[in-house]
Amino acid sequence: MVSPRSVSVADVCIEGGRVTAVGPNLGEPAGATVIDAAGKLVFPGLIDPQVHFREPGNTHKEDLESGSLAAAAGGVTTFFEMPNTNPATTAPEFLEDKLARAANRAHVDHAFFLGASAENADRLGEWEQAPGCAGVKVFMGSSTGSLLVADDETIERVLRSGRRRVAVHSEDEPRLVERYAAIGPGTPVSEHPNIRDVECAVRATRRLLDLVEKTRRPVHLLHVSTAEEIALIRERDLGELLTAEVTPNHLFLCAPECYEAFGSRVQMNPPVRTVRHRDALREALADGTLTCIGSDHAPHAADEKALPYPKSPSGIPGVQTILGLLLTAVRDGWLGLEDVARVSCAAPARVYALEAKGALTPGADGDLVIVDPGELGPLQESWLRSRAGYSPYTDTALAGWPEVTVLRGRVIYRDHAPVGAADGRAVRFTGIAPAVGQLK
Ligand code: DOR
Repeated sequence: MVSPRSVSVADVCIEGGRVTAVGPNLGEPAGATVIDAAGKLVFPGLIDPQVHFREPGNTHKEDLESGSLAAAAGGVTTFFEMPNTNPATTAPEFLEDKLARAANRAHVDHAFFLGASAENADRLGEWEQAPGCAGVKVFMGSSTGSLLVADDETIERVLRSGRRRVAVHSEDEPRLVERYAAIGPGTPVSEHPNIRDVECAVRATRRLLDLVEKTRRPVHLLHVSTAEEIALIRERDLGELLTAEVTPNHLFLCAPECYEAFGSRVQMNPPVRTVRHRDALREALADGTLTCIGSDHAPHAADEKALPYPKSPSGIPGVQTILGLLLTAVRDGWLGLEDVARVSCAAPARVYALEAKGALTPGADGDLVIVDPGELGPLQESWLRSRAGYSPYTDTALAGWPEVTVLRGRVIYRDHAPVGAADGRAVRFTGIAPAVGQLK
């Protein structure tokens, strides 16, 4: 059993969906279903706090059913979904619509972000308390969809409205506008990291850290992509006011090779950059400067991705491959097993004050994933569940792959196939009322 503090041999007892006991040689309670995980690794179910499942509006790319099935297949038992759908999730009725769509269709537990805008900024403090709401998301730079809060005055209004942690996509809009205007015909996708360049990320993050200091509102910096931002985070030392996230893509791909191999299929915002950035991000995740992992699972259809740059949309699927990649980091020696439980289970729960998730301790939800730690070799395309239909990691020899995923005590995925009907529910947050009908 892997936790952020230790790797130990133990039994886990789950009753009524909750962990009731953890420890060596618990024996077999009468009537229990026993899963023998001897020789395997057991992690708490992973929490992916950044996915785009495209429903409503673009379900040809993904929907809540296909996206959450990919999550279950990857050992992810909780996801937080981003608001840049169509319509964007900018008011409670859109949040309620997503929760209704997820009922009986999402394979794992979930919450949804509200998107900030100049129009709704002053209402967010009230709306972020809604059941099933993961919090507020700000796009400081344009990406997929229409959400944007580009100027400091409006960002400050958002930060002063409410008290939960705000998730921020940090790229500087004025610089993006300038850089995109200068793109000539025939510019290859390998230029993406020079178009949305280091300066673009650093300028926005510097502005954001100033605003965090000024307003004292807790912020979560999404998909950090540069060594320079790591230096800024360390220098400013804002403690728990600032948490930060990195995607597996920024840790496992690097420019220019990934663009040569995969073209626009690895185009994302902010971009995958050179090995200098990748190595700084790896070190920062290991030492805790970066708090957690989020996949930024962002599927697009093959014909859309085939459009010439910069018309090709940004985003890479990834909810299913987090654990396999992190185990590969352990094999390669730059992360410990305990770190995997920290960055993908305990830390996302702490960042968003999520209740009963991220740890296998008595009282917590019985969410876990069992992994065979033997080297499994390349991941098979036929295992993938996202509608995107590809992964940049199908040629990577991954060190381990989820065999069994358990949600609240029930096996939901085993040996590359779903088990039973979808039963994902809205999660609860500390201090926020649970969703109606979610208390069972
Ligand atoms: O690459 C990205 N794709 N970055 C984002 O910020 C949005 C995402 C998407 O929704 O496609």
